[in-house]
Amino acid sequence: MSIIAIVNQKGGSAKTTTAVNLGATLAENGKKVLLIDVDPQGSSSKWLKCLNTEKGIYNVFVENTSIYDNISQTSIEGLTVIPSSQWLIGIDKALASEVGAESILRRKLGELENKWDYILIDCPPALGLLSLNALVAANEVLVPLETRVMALDGLAQLLRTIDTVKERLNPGLKINGIIPCRVDKRTRLSMDVISDLRKRFNGMVYDTCIRETVKLAECPSFGQPITIYDSKSQGAKDYRLLAKELIKRKRK
Ligand SMILES: Nc1ncnc2c1ncn2[C@@H]1O[C@H](COP(=O)(O)OP(=O)(O)O)[C@@H](O)[C@H]1O
Ligand SMILES: [Mg+2]
Repeated sequence: MSIIAIVNQKGGSAKTTTAVNLGATLAENGKKVLLIDVDPQGSSSKWLKCLNTEKGIYNVFVENTSIYDNISQTSIEGLTVIPSSQWLIGIDKALASEVGAESILRRKLGELENKWDYILIDCPPALGLLSLNALVAANEVLVPLETRVMALDGLAQLLRTIDTVKERLNPGLKINGIIPCRVDKRTRLSMDVISDLRKRFNGMVYDTCIRETVKLAECPSFGQPITIYDSKSQGAKDYRLLAKELIKRKRK
């Protein structure tokens, strides 16, 4: 079971877009996927029409309920979700006196049998307690990076945080890779960012680039991953390639 935290403290770096569409394309490959939404904004839960006030990750963190009771089926075969809720906004307060609050998710995921091939954790745009829980629970990290802007400074900070978590809390944690997202091949900036990335972090950077396309921006409003919204689109093609590359990397 690969437990993958999708992390980047910068908003708009395509974490949610990647969590949902990679979840869908992995499921297309016959993989069993559980997407855990730990962002209080609940974007991936809304996208997959799984927002549920009774159920979800808040219960897993704060009420001592079983993780199984908080899993929802999506309309995609093979893709299940533990939805977020707005209650997560108050998580720091709710867990203030909890010893080991950073490893709650890890302990809870320990209850899961080996039923899933991939667990993807969609993180909020901050390196707070929720992202920390994801990094402590995960065995791998995927970093989507928006290449339309100069995003490399933030990346250095993120990599330092990952190192610290590895050192102090989760020695088995590995960086699976950095995914160039929102790539606009017509602009110099996008291409410069990618070549810079490859120079500095060579083997870590995915060959697959996710291009900026209108269809990818549209599909959340229709409650569908890109593979259903427009199966033949560029975005669907890119995320299918990403799933294949991820599966290939796992075998290595
Ligand atoms: N490849 C893409 N093409 C077009 N729009 C994209 C693409 N990836 C992300 N977006 C859009 O960019 C915005 C931020 O993406 P999102 O996945 O929500 O980022 P994050 O979860 O990191 O904050 C959203 O409006 C999303 O629809
Ligand atoms: Mg998001």
